[in-house]
Parts: sequence; C-alpha cells; structure tokens
Amino acid sequence: VNKHKIIVSGKDGQLGWELMQIAPKLEQNFEFIFIGRQELDLTQATAIEAFIKHHQPTYFINCAAYTAVDMAETDTENAAVINTAAPKKIASTCEAINCKLIHISTDYVFDGEKKKPYNPTDLCNPLNVYGLTKMHGEEAIAQSNCKSIIIRTSWVYSSHGKNFVKTMLRLMSDRKEINVVNDQIGNPTYAADLAKAILDIVLKDVESNVIRDIGKVYHYSNTGNISWFNFAQSIQQISNKVCIVNPIPSSSYPTPAKRSNYSVLDCTVIEEDFDIEILDWTSSLIKCLALLK
Ligand SMILES: NC(=O)c1ccc[n+]([C@@H]2O[C@H](COP(=O)([O-])OP(=O)(O)OC[C@H]3O[C@@H](n4cnc5c(N)ncnc54)[C@H](OP(=O)(O)O)[C@@H]3O)[C@@H](O)[C@H]2O)c1
Repeated sequence: VNKHKIIVSGKDGQLGWELMQIAPKLEQNFEFIFIGRQELDLTQATAIEAFIKHHQPTYFINCAAYTAVDMAETDTENAAVINTAAPKKIASTCEAINCKLIHISTDYVFDGEKKKPYNPTDLCNPLNVYGLTKMHGEEAIAQSNCKSIIIRTSWVYSSHGKNFVKTMLRLMSDRKEINVVNDQIGNPTYAADLAKAILDIVLKDVESNVIRDIGKVYHYSNTGNISWFNFAQSIQQISNKVCIVNPIPSSSYPTPAKRSNYSVLDCTVIEEDFDIEILDWTSSLIKCLALLK
C-alpha cells in the first residue's frame, strides 16, 4: 500500500508533540516524519527545500514557530526568519512537489479592538513583533501557489512543554498568593484537541479533497471566552491547590510585548467546512490537569 507521507515540524513543541501522540492510530495509512530543530533547522532555507524534496511528503504540518512573544520584541530578526521566511520557503517547496500545507498561526495577528469574536477574514493589525512576523508568514503562504490552510489558534496549553497551565500549577505550589491579569479576554486551546482537529482535516482531505484553496484561513480554539484570571481560578479549583488567586489589571503586569485585551476567535468556519467538533474549554482543561497529576 502506498502510504501518504506527512512531515510534522516542531515535534518538541506542544502541538507537534500532541500530534506525535495520536499519529500511531493512523499509521496504517500514513507515514509520519516528525522533525525538530535537530532534524531540520528552519533558519536554513536551502536545507528546508532539500529536506522536503528528499522526502516527497503529501502533507506538511508546520507546528514550528518562534513563540517567545516577549523575546521577539528585541530578537526580531530570528522571529522573522522562523515565522515568515521559513513558512514562505516551506510553501514554495510544497508547491513544487504538490504537497499540501497546514500552517498554524495566532490570535495575536489582531489588535483586540473589535470586542466581538474575530472571523478569519477580519482585518489584521498585530500589536507586537511576534504577531507581525506571524501575519507576514500567513501572507507569504497566501502569495504562493501552494494548496494550503492556515489555522489560527490561541492560548495553547498541553501536558507537554511550556505554557500557562503548567506555570500556574508551579506558582500555586510555591506561593500562598498569586496575581493574574483579568482584562485580557480570549479562548484557551488544548493542543491535544487542535492536534486531533488537524488530523481529522487531513483524513477528510484524503477522502474528498477538502484542501483546495491557497492560504485559506481558519480559526480553532476551545469554546468559552475568559480572562487569564478566570483561567487561573479554574486551574486552582480543579487541581485543588491551596493558593489565593487575585485579579489584577494588565497595567500592573508590564511586559516587553504589547498584548491585545480581546482575542476571542470565531471558529464556525472550521466547524462547517470540515465538520470539526469544538470542545468546551473546561472539559479539556480537566483532561489535561488529570494527565499532569
Ligand atoms: N503557544 C501559544 O499560546 C500559541 C498561541 C497561538 C498560536 N500559537 C501557534 O501555534 C503553533 C504551535 O505552538 P506551540 O505552542 O506548539 O509552540 P512551542 O511549544 O513553542 O513549539 C514550537 C517549536 O518550534 C521549534 N522551533 C523554533 N525555532 C526553530 C527552528 N529554527 N528550527 C526548527 N524548529 C524550531 C521549537 O524548537 P525548540 O524546542 O528546539 O526551541 C519548538 O519545539 C505555532 O505556530 C504558534 O505560533 C501558539
């Protein structure tokens, strides 16, 4: 049997790792190649092209990114190479060998002024360097001729890697009291849910060619609009931590990168186009916290 080959970048990151956990279920029909920085350094354009052409995949799922939002403010060049130049090279190479690209982007392409859930076609206006380099990555893919989709997600967490949930658990064990901002509203996304959604889309595409456009943008997050403070409170309650969680305004917690105070994503298009089920944020948080116990 000729198996479809899928390259997944960012295998050591949250989303790449979650994809690696589900991949064995699909190994009858797919051959997965999971890659991290060691297998392919995305700052090396010629290496990207050589690697993809060598392996001749049918799908490339790009989960690698420069995700250090605050560091990107000063490490601008590196952020641009990984978030803009790399997806551009991946897209042009995929186009050349007829490989479909699934690229991941971010809610930080928006400025938060809308105050209503963002649709994929809403105007982008990033507030920080990370968001700008991710937006340029989206644009580069859209300007290629590569059959591709771009999935924007937000507030990603997993039992693996660095994220808000794990940071909160650590702080709640170490401290009697913590302060968390309550004026930034968004949707948490469990990376395991997004990983499943991505592979569901790949399966649908194999069946009925659903990835037909170039750089079509989708939104995916768990449902429920909450603040980081609400999120922290739930983490505390579900995991039974003895710690007081105080709400504070963002102005009391200055960071190098400016952050939007509203980044709720409207996910109806991905639900409709691919028949994807979007799960409630609390049930997913409970699952992740159970794994972290
Ligand atoms: N995390 C969030 O809250 C969030 C929110 C919205 C959107 N997103 C997007 O979702 C996607 C997945 O995010 P994530 O949370 O899984 O990110 P993550 O945990 O930070 O993982 C990103 C991975 O990219 C790899 N990478 C960075 N530079 C590389 C390079 N030069 N060559 C090869 N690999 C490189 C990193 O490798 P090393 O481990 O070696 O550094 C890391 O494993 C990204 O596109 C991100 O922009 C994330």
